[in-house]
Amino acid sequence: MIEKANIVVIGTGGTIAGQGKAASNTSAYMCSVLGIDDILTTIPHASLPVNLRAEQLLQTGSENFTNEHLLAIGKRVSTLLAQDDIDGVVIAHGTDTIEETAYFLHLTLKSRKPVVVVGSMRPPSAMSSDAPLNLYDAIAVAAHPSSIGMGTLVVANDEIHTARDVVKSNSFKIEAFRSPYGPLGYVIDGRPRYYRHPARAHTLATPWSAGTLGSLPAVDIVYAYGALEPATVNAIAARAQGLIFAGTGNGSVAAHLIEPLRNAVRRGVHVVRASRTGNGIVVQNGAQPDEAYSWLAVDDQVPSKARILLMLALTQSRDLQVLQTVFERY
Ligand code: DGL
Repeated sequence: MIEKANIVVIGTGGTIAGQGKAASNTSAYMCSVLGIDDILTTIPHASLPVNLRAEQLLQTGSENFTNEHLLAIGKRVSTLLAQDDIDGVVIAHGTDTIEETAYFLHLTLKSRKPVVVVGSMRPPSAMSSDAPLNLYDAIAVAAHPSSIGMGTLVVANDEIHTARDVVKSNSFKIEAFRSPYGPLGYVIDGRPRYYRHPARAHTLATPWSAGTLGSLPAVDIVYAYGALEPATVNAIAARAQGLIFAGTGNGSVAAHLIEPLRNAVRRGVHVVRASRTGNGIVVQNGAQPDEAYSWLAVDDQVPSKARILLMLALTQSRDLQVLQTVFERY
């Protein structure tokens, strides 16, 4: 007899918990209204080798998630993973910031047990909703031994993505999730098929633990455009301990913004030069002399996730060399 995996499914809201007035409402609907128990009734989980337990942790759109929400999810999942009778966790989540929560968990959970974050682009009430299949696939991935040690995963649209790489890259399509180097694998007929492993360090190989983290330092993102004023940069830098500068192209910085950013560094703010393109590598001392300015270069991470990484890094060190290594290691 096949042993059944014990999987906990956590509800947090989002479109996967949404409801429209009519089946034709694929974009106009109420978010975060269905409880996780109701969502689970939409899938044929009896056909999966799992014992399911559901719990409702939050009920809100993921655009509302603050650092405190991240910590609350991280602590709850840590507690669950520490239990011998739990084999994996699935988190039903809004898609807007799924990449941030998933990356935070990927870097802070101290377990090899599978953790899968899942959302949908259409509510369960819509025609051709992706909610039931995405949730079914997420549970199948969490329950499968091949997912052990992969870190936190995001499952959507038949694809399994590593939390490190995945970004939401479309506002309405089912094909909304993209990893720049491709997904780790696919889910077909309730069975995951992996073709690669995450190369960068995660979970047990990081110094951060969601279970013990107290608070996260303020790290903000500045989105660059030609008319961006020094006053705007100064205002954002005034409240931050870290700043992700989402520069144009390969992390370019307009001439009139160099001094404001250097002044931020003089006041103790850690500045990371990133790119607003959403793809590619920002090379240290490439478009700007980062070391001379005491700036950091992001490597290939997008600004939304560079913010997560810098927050975690700043809980451990303020040393520039250590911080630069963090961007190249995780
Ligand atoms: N506001 C969005 C969120 O909860 C709903 C979008 C979605 O889940 O796809 O992230």
